[in-house]
Amino acid sequence: MKWLTMLSLSLVLIVAGLAIAEERRDDSAPDGLRPGGTLSQSLPAPPMAGEPRDAGREVLNYPEQPPVIPHGIRDYQIDTRANHCLTCHSREHAVQAGAPMVSVSHFRDRHQQVLAAVSPDRYFCTQCHVPQTDASPIVSNTFLNVDEVLGEMLRQQREGGGQ
Ligand code: HEC
Ligand code: HEC
Repeated sequence: MKWLTMLSLSLVLIVAGLAIAEERRDDSAPDGLRPGGTLSQSLPAPPMAGEPRDAGREVLNYPEQPPVIPHGIRDYQIDTRANHCLTCHSREHAVQAGAPMVSVSHFRDRHQQVLAAVSPDRYFCTQCHVPQTDASPIVSNTFLNVDEVLGEMLRQQREGGGQ
């Protein structure tokens, strides 16, 4: 009789332990990428970011910046057989397509040797050039453009000079 009581007691304990563990496991989701909820909850996927903006060419944030792409690039294939970007941006097609030609830097290889065609270093355009969407940033950005950096330096110099 005694062992039966012991057995049922330990069973009760195990079940209670499991229930507590189950409750603990459902912690709130980590902050950041997910909009709230708990770890075990399945939330609907956030809506896809809008189509790339077609807002025209954008001002550069610093002189060496690869300009952002001011048009959609859906289905523009770039692989070893074809580069859709170059059907408009290459030297021979740019004028007719009304597109800016890839700049001279794209014809230099990594030894600064000038080539007749776009350098393999620059073949995969989207390594450096990206279209813009209306997605709201998940993490806020503290980037200052070159004018803001220079303005800040000038302000500090003036304050330093005043002492
Ligand atoms: C059908 C022709 C066409 C194709 C294909 C095309 N572009 Fe363009 N692209 C243009 C035109 C036209 C402009 C100029 C748009 C304007 O002035 O508003 C442009 C502008 C750009 C600019 C901005 C240049 C600057 O100085 O601001 C970049 C960068 C660019 N394209 C990259 C790409 C990349 C990368 C691809 C391939 C994924 C691509 N383009 C495919 C026609 C094209
Ligand atoms: C390794 C990075 C990189 C890759 C890859 C690259 N670019 Fe660029 N691109 C740049 C930078 C940086 C600039 C601006 C400075 C310059 O002109 O070199 C630029 C400038 C441009 C411009 C503006 C030219 C002008 O005079 O306004 C166009 C158009 C362009 N790239 C198209 C392309 C296309 C099309 C490809 C793919 C075939 C490509 N780029 C690949 C970095 C890159």
